[in-house]
Amino acid sequence: MALGKDESRHGMWSSRWLFVLAAAGSAVGLGNIWKFPYVAGENGGGAFVIIYLVCVALVGLPIMMAETLMGREGRHSPINTMRILSQEGRASGFWGVIGWMGVGAGFLILSYYGVIAGWALYYIFEMARGTFDAVTPETAGQVFDDFLANPWLMLLCQTVFMWLTIYIVGRGVIKGLETAIRLFMPLLFVLLLVLLGYGINSGGFQQGLDFMFRFNWSSIDADAWLIAMGQAFFTLSLGMGAIMAYGAYVPRDASITSTVATIAILDTFVAVAAGLAIFPVVFANGLEPGQGPGLMFVTLPLAFGQLPLGAVFGVVFFVLVSFAAITSAISLTEPALAYLVEEYNAKRARVAKSLGVLCWLLGIGTVLSFNAWQDVKFFGLTFFEAVDFVSQNIMLPLGGLLIALFTAYVMPKAIAQSQLGATDGPLWWLWKLLIGLIAPLGVLVVFIVTLFPCAQTLSCFGA
Ligand code: PFF
Repeated sequence: MALGKDESRHGMWSSRWLFVLAAAGSAVGLGNIWKFPYVAGENGGGAFVIIYLVCVALVGLPIMMAETLMGREGRHSPINTMRILSQEGRASGFWGVIGWMGVGAGFLILSYYGVIAGWALYYIFEMARGTFDAVTPETAGQVFDDFLANPWLMLLCQTVFMWLTIYIVGRGVIKGLETAIRLFMPLLFVLLLVLLGYGINSGGFQQGLDFMFRFNWSSIDADAWLIAMGQAFFTLSLGMGAIMAYGAYVPRDASITSTVATIAILDTFVAVAAGLAIFPVVFANGLEPGQGPGLMFVTLPLAFGQLPLGAVFGVVFFVLVSFAAITSAISLTEPALAYLVEEYNAKRARVAKSLGVLCWLLGIGTVLSFNAWQDVKFFGLTFFEAVDFVSQNIMLPLGGLLIALFTAYVMPKAIAQSQLGATDGPLWWLWKLLIGLIAPLGVLVVFIVTLFPCAQTLSCFGA
């Protein structure tokens, strides 16, 4: 196929809106609906939400712009894009580490992402069976505990999810996906609004609102900042090249600033709305907000069980959560897939299958973390928690830090300006301040304080 000068061999989004939808499909996923509410719950609610929003605005947004513009400039998989951009900037090959680490992080994340998405698939089935009709909080909790105690069932669900993902990826993501995203993303929004309406009327809304937006600074320590930063990266799909890979397919005439802002706003809206839908129900039923990963799988079914036609809503909700997860899972495979296709001229479907099998195998560790291996700990963390921590809280922010530094200090100014459609002026300097100073400094400080806790009190320096 003859390519235009400014095109990717993997295909191009047909418009900037399809990039917005695809990137929002990547961003909106389990991180928003499952993870954000429980992480906020475990870290004290209100103050955590605020620092998370700060991380999204000051660190996430500029890095998302950087990834998109790098992808569009390189027009290849992140590994090859970094190679091309390093040459353009006459920089060392070291920067290729961004692409390689991204592939590693995507692989680790997908291994457990598939397991949790499998839970959503299982809940479609349980909802349809009417398991949660007028259920008590205790029974809802029991259904989840029983499921977690059954590794074979979890493995089955994980297998189905991974199979679906690989099937779609292998058949050519962009075309198949564009249709699915157009249909399912709006539906997801509508359902969230319905749930929000339910939350508002559940009798616990004020408490839920207080919990999510109350400034309880005492719960915010260095760890909370690290988790908020990790969550901002995770939810926006940053730091591992997924957005860079998608950026490679963005048409030249699309404005990066406005498209990226739209994606971040959509993503943040879904996370906050999911929290506001879930917490009121938690309080109205006298449940604990900090109950961890089970929040979505215990409280939401409980809520649906009380709603008229709750089983129907529940089925639709978990179908949509599964779709949101699939559109994210696909983007997790894209950097590695695109690289292998470029490097070995390999068939997409074949590459997808091999990657899928490897991820599936690694995912077994996560499955067992909830039952047979629940007492096996690495530095106090289960296998799942360790993979999650390393990929989300270390690899993604580290990748983001390098991306910010590269864009700010290695990429020739003319390239960045032409990609952003910017000229010297206040907006350009604001961008330079964010990408060159605030975003990297933010990531760095959080890192240092986490890795050397004594830095928090300056006691490392004998103070
Ligand atoms: N953003 C997705 C979510 O919030 O569920 C997860 C994710 C997808 C992370 C793709 C990273 C990524 F590259």
